[in-house]
Amino acid sequence: MNIAVIGTGYVGLVTGVSLAEVGHHVTCVDVDNDKISSLRKGNITIWEPGLEELLQKNITHGKLFFTTAHAIACENAQIIIIAVGTPENEDGSANLRYVEQAIIDIANTITHRVTIVVKSTVPVGTAHRMCTILQENLQHGVSVELVSNPEFLREGSAIEDAFRGDRIVIGADTLSAFDVMEEVYRPFRIPIYKTDVRSAEMIKYASNAFLATKISFINEIAAICEQVGANVDLVAAGMGMDKRIGDKFLKAGIGFGGSCFPKDTKALIQMARNVGYDFEILNRVVEVNERQKVLLVEKLLERFGSLEGKQIAVLGLSFKPNTNDIREAASITITERLIRHGAKVIGYDPIAIEYAKNRLNEQMTYAKDLEAAVSGCDAALILTEWDEIKEVDVRVYHVMKTPIVLDGRNCYPPEIMAQHHIEYHSIGRPSAGGQYIQ
Ligand code: UGA
Repeated sequence: MNIAVIGTGYVGLVTGVSLAEVGHHVTCVDVDNDKISSLRKGNITIWEPGLEELLQKNITHGKLFFTTAHAIACENAQIIIIAVGTPENEDGSANLRYVEQAIIDIANTITHRVTIVVKSTVPVGTAHRMCTILQENLQHGVSVELVSNPEFLREGSAIEDAFRGDRIVIGADTLSAFDVMEEVYRPFRIPIYKTDVRSAEMIKYASNAFLATKISFINEIAAICEQVGANVDLVAAGMGMDKRIGDKFLKAGIGFGGSCFPKDTKALIQMARNVGYDFEILNRVVEVNERQKVLLVEKLLERFGSLEGKQIAVLGLSFKPNTNDIREAASITITERLIRHGAKVIGYDPIAIEYAKNRLNEQMTYAKDLEAAVSGCDAALILTEWDEIKEVDVRVYHVMKTPIVLDGRNCYPPEIMAQHHIEYHSIGRPSAGGQYIQ
């Protein structure tokens, strides 16, 4: 099929590349000239395992094209996928200006019947509202169908998710729209869940909010474990054996970050508020996450009294491993706080340093590797569970002034740290000697 994808951000690019890979003819369009010329050459600026190889392969095979002109992308398209961003407004609601612009651009361009697919995360009712805007702006005699098709890719495993996801959700109003979408996705062999447009839009928010709730829930359990002497990792493993609970998204730590959970939880709270409903659980999920982000700084303050003049290494800057994305990463809040408390901060990340430089406190410095980061430090904080950090020989921490590690992602067995005489504090787990910073 001939498919146009509007927006070459994270979701748009992965969608375009994976649709080309299964045999569709895909043209991706973006207003950013530099990005399009770099994508044409097969180069990407995001770090996503496997993406660049598939991009280059499909460009070479003549299945994937990039342009800044909507008219070129949409000219012969049977399907137009909108995958532009929906950033957060000040009140937490989703900002729809890019989606609306995409709809106007499509209306001004198409001269034939197409199926328009909203993949961007949008509040319930948006697709129908966009349909009205479209009808008002379309050329005489042209008709369209609008479909909701939310995205469930995770950064860092987006290619794996695109080809092995749990489900594809299609919300549509007509049988013909379902038929077209089944043709698009048939090669993926992933179960397709068909529903109405508004329910599809809600599935996206409800799924992200539920996963965020699991994380904040286990983080609350971790806080109680610290008081009663239990180990949250063992608790989560025992809970997860119950299939009704499942063992995923029960990893306690310093909370969720990234471009999706923080934004989508707030957008759902705001969406509920707009219809007069107070989403109490979700309010609390967000509050717990805010507290969780600064937990390590509080533990440090308790341990040292004052952080004035202390040298602190911050290991892992991206919001999670296998990405260079530092949007809403705990590293942002933590480095700000440490510097405000008078500490000198040295950051290290296997790949995100260049991106971090623009976003993190300019007073912080960066190290070329983990050993250089912790060398001579008073304490090391682990913020992201990169394999490189998890698999390091922990004796490296002996280059610190005194080896004190506060681990926000529970990377090491406390017994190993004790064996190597490293003072070790993690989340919701007693140290080998049963000690917590309370
Ligand atoms: C998330 C969802 O998992 C995707 O299904 C969804 O498509 C995407 O948002 C989106 O809406 O676009 P992503 O933000 O890439 O994907 O990353 P996750 O792997 O979900 O992790 C989010 C955050 O939660 C990370 O900061 C991670 O460290 C944290 N997390 C995750 C935990 O603290 N504990 C866990 O058990 C799992």
